Amino acid sequence: MKRRIARILKGVARRLTPNKMLKPHKVHRNTVDRGYEFSNTWFEGNRPQWDTFMEKFQPRMLLEIGSYEGASACYLIDTLAHDADIELHCIDTWEGSVEHTGQYPKPSLVEARFIKNTALAIAAAAKSVNLVVHKGKSDTHLPKLLGENMQERFDLIYIDGSHQAPDVLFDAVVAFKLLKPGGLMIFDDYLWHDPSLGSFDTLRNPKIAVDAFTNVYGREVKILNAQLRQMYLIKHAQ
Ligand SMILES: C[S@@+](CC[C@H](N)C(=O)[O-])C[C@H]1O[C@@H](n2cnc3c(N)ncnc32)[C@H](O)[C@@H]1O
Repeated sequence: MKRRIARILKGVARRLTPNKMLKPHKVHRNTVDRGYEFSNTWFEGNRPQWDTFMEKFQPRMLLEIGSYEGASACYLIDTLAHDADIELHCIDTWEGSVEHTGQYPKPSLVEARFIKNTALAIAAAAKSVNLVVHKGKSDTHLPKLLGENMQERFDLIYIDGSHQAPDVLFDAVVAFKLLKPGGLMIFDDYLWHDPSLGSFDTLRNPKIAVDAFTNVYGREVKILNAQLRQMYLIKHAQ
């Protein structure tokens, strides 16, 4: 009996070890191989453009809306904490987006990966990394940051949370107040649409929101010349 219980407990423990829990996802190794575990390659196509802009702008105060397993966060740490201290704020519910309905892995697994991956990046960084995690929705945390006197404090803001147009517009308008004059704002998936929807629904994609934002804030931003898979703009210095 004792042996049977021990066997059952061993089986449970084996199933609960992080690697086993994460096994159903295909593991992708990042180019900088620190042992990262990513289940997708969403970020990979951005690297060449980001490399150019990171070198040009050298941002140090960073805000990311939508972190998932930390691919973009690890890129920022790997790329920028080489020769200067950085502060990286990450906002995510770790519950997935509307378009992930039915396919989002267990939130705790994705969040565990984010924690593990960013810890690996921070451990390897030459300079100090202050990682500030804001768990919850962006419509709660962005206003909170504004209320904490973080206006115009960020050099780089990456908007990659909800891809629903009303959410993207909200994130853009509020995050813009947090961006320094001269700072860089990046919208992911400018031309993306949800393939799971039978028909094209403009309000369930970022584009209409990014267009509305860049039109209304047209006098305050300059759109950078880049491939349109993402939209890059800088806030005019006053
Ligand atoms: C496309 S993933 C982010 C990918 C990540 N930047 C990367 O490079 O791997 C989108 C993330 O946004 C989060 N998210 C969706 N809607 C959100 C919201 N309203 N507020 C905060 N996070 C949200 C999801 O939980 C998900 O982890």
